[in-house]
Amino acid sequence: MSARAQIGVTGLAVMGRNLARNFARHGYTTAVHNRSYAKTESLIADHGSDGDFIPSESMADFVASIERPRKVVVMVKAGGPTDAVIAELVPLLEQGDIIIDAGNAHFPDTRRREAELKEKGIHFVGTGVSGGEEGALNGPSIMPGGAPESYETLGPILEDISAKVDGVPCCTYVGPDGAGHFVKMVHNGIEYADMQLIAEAYDLLKQGLGASAQEIGEIFAEWNKGDLESFLIEITADVLQHVDAETGKAFVDIVLDRAEQKGTGRWTVQNALDLGVPITGIAEATFARALSGSVPQRAAAVGVLPAEAGSWEITDRDAFIEDVRRALYSSKVVAYSQGFDQIAAASEEFGWDIDRGAMARIWRGGCIIRARFLNRITEAYERDENLPLLLADPYFTKVVGEGVASWRRIVSQAALNGVPTPAFSSSLAYYDGVRAERLPASLIQAQRDFFGAHTYQRVDKPGVFHTEWTRDRSETEA
Ligand code: 6PG
Repeated sequence: MSARAQIGVTGLAVMGRNLARNFARHGYTTAVHNRSYAKTESLIADHGSDGDFIPSESMADFVASIERPRKVVVMVKAGGPTDAVIAELVPLLEQGDIIIDAGNAHFPDTRRREAELKEKGIHFVGTGVSGGEEGALNGPSIMPGGAPESYETLGPILEDISAKVDGVPCCTYVGPDGAGHFVKMVHNGIEYADMQLIAEAYDLLKQGLGASAQEIGEIFAEWNKGDLESFLIEITADVLQHVDAETGKAFVDIVLDRAEQKGTGRWTVQNALDLGVPITGIAEATFARALSGSVPQRAAAVGVLPAEAGSWEITDRDAFIEDVRRALYSSKVVAYSQGFDQIAAASEEFGWDIDRGAMARIWRGGCIIRARFLNRITEAYERDENLPLLLADPYFTKVVGEGVASWRRIVSQAALNGVPTPAFSSSLAYYDGVRAERLPASLIQAQRDFFGAHTYQRVDKPGVFHTEWTRDRSETEA
């Protein structure tokens, strides 16, 4: 077999298949392989005309068909299946070859795999890929990590097949080892927050105005013409206006209200706890999915827990809609601000040197959270690459400044009327917390010192102190 493929893809479920087609459509000779050969055959039968494919039945033939340094994209389930494919590949590869894991792997696994393969002289590039099936085929957002040398040969191909915004590829080198998968994980955390905020906005419009799904869909379509313009708002407008063929009811009303997840949101929150970064919007969004799926608890509570709630009295429909829009935009800015803080903290912790402005740039197209306002985030980090808080950038300060009164009205009305808005409320609480001159954390420090001699610092002089609470209350310097 002559080694003439410029890239190979193993794992031809829908994402792998579409990525392979995307490579082929861009003129790359693409080696393809799958554990069961039937999938490989069906790819060639259905889409062979997309470009130049080299199908192989065995892993050995597949590897042999790729020119060196080999670039092998692995697109299988995260966890055990990825390790199994790597184990099969490694004996067939040579020094300098590159394995690209384009699945949603957990970044600590990517760090481990990268370190193990580096010892064998093989590059392991954990790569975030966002955009679902459609993105994989027509241009995803791509977030590659691994060694910078690997990007020299791999980068141009990935940039070529990625989405483009204003001619700029939605792909760039993220940082060493697990940085690419880390950034994809945070992307997904933000995706969870964005989706939950949209769901809360929908619920407020539904309950506050008594509006139909169709009407709310029209409101979202209108919002999609302004600052909120984004893929998720666009598909929300579409979903809300969709009618179930079987019942003639709004589609959203016939779907069971239990949100599932594959785990990337959970990973984001777990990591934020480890790093000590308050990503409250993402955390509440993740827990809101958990609450929706808490079947026995919900069954025990519905009709049992007293509401003591008021009823909506909206006199100005347009003003209410505008309040919801502003609350949504402000809460969304908080979710992104928190997500970018998490990226900064991990970058520091792992020595990744991630350029946050570049991350916002590659999320402008192709990915699930693609949105008009990501341009604004890039601009903010261009103004100050060390910006400590996205919210404090002048553009975003203005946005939340214009939105904060609406935000307060919406969160308080929701609470008074018994509508759950965990993401809206926690984002506002974060906003008020981070801007507070003084927080009640002083009391927590005092309590900790009282029961555990955990010490405290004072506002008026340097040093670490302890008070003898149960004795004479004298203060000693620790
Ligand atoms: C993407 C998506 C994609 C997928 C996630 C989220 O960027 O293309 O984030 O990775 O939709 O798996 O799915 P869950 O909601 O099931 O966690």
